Amino acid sequence: MKYREWHEMKKPIVVVTHKLPAVIETRMKELFDANLNATGMQMSRDQIISICDGADVLVPSVTDKIDAALIERFPGSVKLIANFGVGVNHIDCNAAAARGIIVTNTPGVLTEDTADLTIALLISVPRRLVEGARLARTGKWTGWRPTFMLGYRVNGKRLGIIGMGRIGQAVARRAQGFGIQVHYHNRNRVHQEIEGELEATWWESLDEMLEHIDLLSIHCPLTQETQQLLNSERLDCLPKHSVIINTARGGIIDEAALAERLASGRLAGAGLDVYANEPQIHPALLELDNVVAIPHLGSATHEGRIAMGEKVVMNIRAFADGHTIPDRILIGVDI
Ligand code: DGY
Repeated sequence: MKYREWHEMKKPIVVVTHKLPAVIETRMKELFDANLNATGMQMSRDQIISICDGADVLVPSVTDKIDAALIERFPGSVKLIANFGVGVNHIDCNAAAARGIIVTNTPGVLTEDTADLTIALLISVPRRLVEGARLARTGKWTGWRPTFMLGYRVNGKRLGIIGMGRIGQAVARRAQGFGIQVHYHNRNRVHQEIEGELEATWWESLDEMLEHIDLLSIHCPLTQETQQLLNSERLDCLPKHSVIINTARGGIIDEAALAERLASGRLAGAGLDVYANEPQIHPALLELDNVVAIPHLGSATHEGRIAMGEKVVMNIRAFADGHTIPDRILIGVDI
């Protein structure tokens, strides 16, 4: 029997590893035979395997490591991994494909929120916003002084963007509004029209771009190629006054090397939303005043999370109805 014919007789069994926005959970209960996470607690690997028993669809998120060893243990019933989130670096998509399991994500709906948060960090670090807010609460502020707590202007500076996809472009658009010049490195040069609109300069060589910028923002996915892309050597290509913003994935930067350079003054500052071993944050980074560290908040808006949930629901419905699945991850294709 074909999957579709089989589905016509019953609702798909959908298991979810995280607590989702209430409207999404309600919708899932209406449409699917949904097994939700009532406690909101992080599930262990064994718990994920256990809820998958007899399920058609697994809905994981970034904190669930769906690696080859776990996929190997999935029951044959699982045919779709509908990720709640755009990044799929925590899922071994090749291992899933090898078992005939489709993987989907939620692109497009968290672009603006992530770009907003990137700009917030891009301003916060050079203008010492968090340091200032901390001081204001201590009662130790002695009043305005001409040389008190000076930061650096962002207007007129050069921003290098690594990864000029949806989020990179949304950041570039915002940066223009602040009078920041946009430079970018992307495997493929973006369409001329977009480049013109963003007044963006493309650098084929990442190392060369790094030498010529003041601010750096990362917007590429974490893959084998981008793992520790910003290693010690690349960090040393940046001018000493540079500020680095990362709202993509922590694994793209060598965090120990970054902390070392921020502590020694070899780099000026960093605004970080993501970390290599979340929820752990490299302790050396947390000791530094020139680091603004926030807990993976890029897409954390009510609107964004509901839109992500709606995408998950749409992907599951398309799969179950035998239609083209909108956000299917195609193996070997850029996301
Ligand atoms: C994303 O969607 O990739 C966010 O970082 C959460 O996973």
